[in-house]
Amino acid sequence: MIKIAPSILSADFARLGEEIASIPSADYLHFDVMDGVFVPNISIGIPVLASVRKITDMTLDVHLMITEPRRYVKDFIDAGADIVVIHAEADTPEHTMEALREIRALGKRAGLCIKPKTPAEAALPYLNMLSLILVMTVEPGFGGQKFMPDMLPKVEFLRRAIDSGGHKVELEVDGGINPETAKLCVAAGADVLVAGSAVFGAQDRAAMIRRLRGA
Ligand code: DX5
Ligand code: ZN
Repeated sequence: MIKIAPSILSADFARLGEEIASIPSADYLHFDVMDGVFVPNISIGIPVLASVRKITDMTLDVHLMITEPRRYVKDFIDAGADIVVIHAEADTPEHTMEALREIRALGKRAGLCIKPKTPAEAALPYLNMLSLILVMTVEPGFGGQKFMPDMLPKVEFLRRAIDSGGHKVELEVDGGINPETAKLCVAAGADVLVAGSAVFGAQDRAAMIRRLRGA
């Protein structure tokens, strides 16, 4: 079954506990961290993650939109991350590999994210290290943007690379996901859909999660 990862970037941060309690049927909770350098926006970080960890057993999918993420990998894991996703563009290939190795050594799932202008091939050298690949379907930095359909060939390419190599890697998409674009992503081979404004902007969040799954 397709997994849904609501992004709390679109939640009301003053009522975060209730917002998280409102999506019990979701698979992952997507936690967007922005440093104002790697992306032109600043969001939430380690203390908020630690507080969220205390109130939920959901799988915490932490998307680090920060430069040189290896500096903070351990801190995010100590705060409760289950999946730590770093960007291929955020550091040198050597440091990226080191960060992925550290996430795994600490017993957590390692993910790699690629921005729209980064070719899908950039993920290939890391495939053996990964539990998840995240394909951005908008420029990272803000919720509520329009889905970029030209990212779909990247999803198809990575689906083939994962399957032909026999890798156990989940393929996640992030940005502009709604019931219509969800269908396109699933057809292209995605198995985890991040959705911020679609889920937290919906009156009936459970119904929206079902629609995103294609039910
Ligand atoms: C954007 C973030 C996304 C964002 C998605 O940089 O990585 O996770 O919250 O929001 P929507 O689903 O509204 O495009
Ligand atoms: Zn994200």
